[in-house]
Amino acid sequence: MEFKRIGVLGAGNIGVGVVTDLVLHGLCTVVVDVSDEILASAQAAVLNNVRCVPLLSKTLPRITRDEALRRMVLTTRLQDIESCDFVIENVTEDWKVKQPLYEAMDRVARPEVCFGANTSCISITQIAGATRRSAQVIGIHLMNPVHLKPTVEVIRGFHTSQQTLDTLLQLFSVLRKEAIVVDDSPGFVSNRISHLFMNEAAFVLQDDVATAAQIDQVFKQCFGHKMGPLETADLIGLDTVVRSLDVLYESFHDPKYRCCPLLRKLVHAGHLGRKTGKGFHAYPDE
Ligand SMILES: NC(=O)c1ccc[n+]([C@@H]2O[C@H](COP(=O)([O-])OP(=O)(O)OC[C@H]3O[C@@H](n4cnc5c(N)ncnc54)[C@H](O)[C@@H]3O)[C@@H](O)[C@H]2O)c1
Repeated sequence: MEFKRIGVLGAGNIGVGVVTDLVLHGLCTVVVDVSDEILASAQAAVLNNVRCVPLLSKTLPRITRDEALRRMVLTTRLQDIESCDFVIENVTEDWKVKQPLYEAMDRVARPEVCFGANTSCISITQIAGATRRSAQVIGIHLMNPVHLKPTVEVIRGFHTSQQTLDTLLQLFSVLRKEAIVVDDSPGFVSNRISHLFMNEAAFVLQDDVATAAQIDQVFKQCFGHKMGPLETADLIGLDTVVRSLDVLYESFHDPKYRCCPLLRKLVHAGHLGRKTGKGFHAYPDE
């Protein structure tokens, strides 16, 4: 199948990375979000990513600002995805937001088009149930920053067909991404485990056992991780981490997923991590 145009729903933290990756690899995008302001700031972030590619990657294609601009249509109208050959959804991690959107996408997109659900924890089978094309819905848990991460966790929902998986793998071959295909379960592999790390790190900080810098240092210097759990939470966005923990808690009814009060307090205070310049750590230059 030839991918002429990809719909990207949600141009936030991860949506910006998705659009960056698509335009870098020559694909045209229709980017949908709820306001022109959000779309304008997403476009600026994509252009900045494209500009920084030579500094950050030896292998990613280099494209000009004009090429990037030509490959992005920005819109607040969901109907504009009707021309798309594949849709990647990255809206807020909230079932109350995703459910009505999937119902609407199902009405607008051509019947043969597949939907890639980029969620941190919500069940792909549940998402697929909001459409009449459940065999064509597949989970794609892209990592942040999307254009710099070569591997994706792919999730087969209960009804996801082999044809849908093959279509997605074809798209990933254009993006030069490798897929690790797993079964559907809340949080999949990555977030079911990593959110326990991040949440417990917040409890350790709350209990005054160590500073945020020390907690991250232990993971980086003793375990050899590239980033510590609190830095990772800041990169994901603390609001998204809290929502994901809430989904895990509701899904498993297991107290090990109860969200640390300090984490929730930072979200209420507007300290969402890198995207607001402050979370567990401060990011004055971003
Ligand atoms: N942040 C990460 O590292 C990460 C990684 C993998 C997956 N995800 C998942 O990707 C999704 C988005 O996460 P994020 O961190 O980018 O969140 P975000 O809050 O930064 O962005 C979400 C965007 O969705 C938009 N939106 C909300 N309702 C919409 C609608 N009806 N139509 C179009 N746009 C709409 C919002 O305006 C916002 O711009 C979530 O499901 C999250 O779990 C995030």
